[in-house]
Amino acid sequence: MSIAQKDFDFLRKFVLEKTAISLGSDKIYLLESRLAPLCREYGLADVSEIVDLLRKSPLGRLSSSVLDAVTTNETYFFRDSKPFLELEKELIPELIARKGSCSTLKIWSAACSSGQEIYSVAMILEDKFPELKSWNVQLYASDVSSAMVDRTKAGVFNQLEVSRGLPSSMLIKHFSRKGESFYVKEHLKRCLEVFALNLASPWPALPKFDVVFLRNVLIYFDPPTKEAILRKVEKVLEPGGSLFLGGSESTLGLRTSLVRKMRTFCPLYVLPS
Ligand SMILES: C[S@@+](CC[C@H](N)C(=O)[O-])C[C@H]1O[C@@H](n2cnc3c(N)ncnc32)[C@H](O)[C@@H]1O
Repeated sequence: MSIAQKDFDFLRKFVLEKTAISLGSDKIYLLESRLAPLCREYGLADVSEIVDLLRKSPLGRLSSSVLDAVTTNETYFFRDSKPFLELEKELIPELIARKGSCSTLKIWSAACSSGQEIYSVAMILEDKFPELKSWNVQLYASDVSSAMVDRTKAGVFNQLEVSRGLPSSMLIKHFSRKGESFYVKEHLKRCLEVFALNLASPWPALPKFDVVFLRNVLIYFDPPTKEAILRKVEKVLEPGGSLFLGGSESTLGLRTSLVRKMRTFCPLYVLPS
């Protein structure tokens, strides 16, 4: 199935406006392969019919389906391991030492995909820090894709997903199996709030976070959008709060007051106190 140039131009603009993701002109094949299943699902002959429907109704179910199809949702439990080691071995012990007992801890996974990132955090807190039981721990996860928001809320993973990065001891402890699916147990969801958020749009009122995970998403944006998002992150971080970026991301060349610190396991971006 091939896409006419005018339809590709429309879709690029549509995706840019809705998500700030800029699809290069070389991404025409990506769109073809991702939209072909949607044509079948909606009983449409080709991508031009998707474009016609989007022009008539840019906010409907098809619009969500197109955005779900074009966003890249690659993720897995404990992805890149080092940020999670830094969290477990350094950051959380420091926060506990600094805040004392019975305090509040807020952590946000700001482009959560299907939820493996925030559930990895939840398992670390549950398994390694029994002292947090008396704390007010609040975990947040958000994504622009409504399908990803629903998946994170559901916390249901298939065999392949639980075989990527998740130690078997954690699988046994924190998931229950029904048929081919693995369900996150309720104790991990208790303090989790999941919501839809386009990072490139104005943000609603959010609490102040001790730690923000913003990994493997800035790569899709142009420099002004990255800067605007980092400015918003600065506003929702506690003084001294920490930001994790993806392994191939940095603030190099971007205007931000976040300070890069090389820590024991990986770099962190810290809001000065
Ligand atoms: C590659 S995944 C990264 C998931 C996870 N953070 C990780 O590192 O494993 C990128 C996620 O960013 C989301 N995303 C893309 N554009 C976004 C936007 N404008 N606002 C919020 N999320 C966005 C996608 O839907 C996708 O789930």
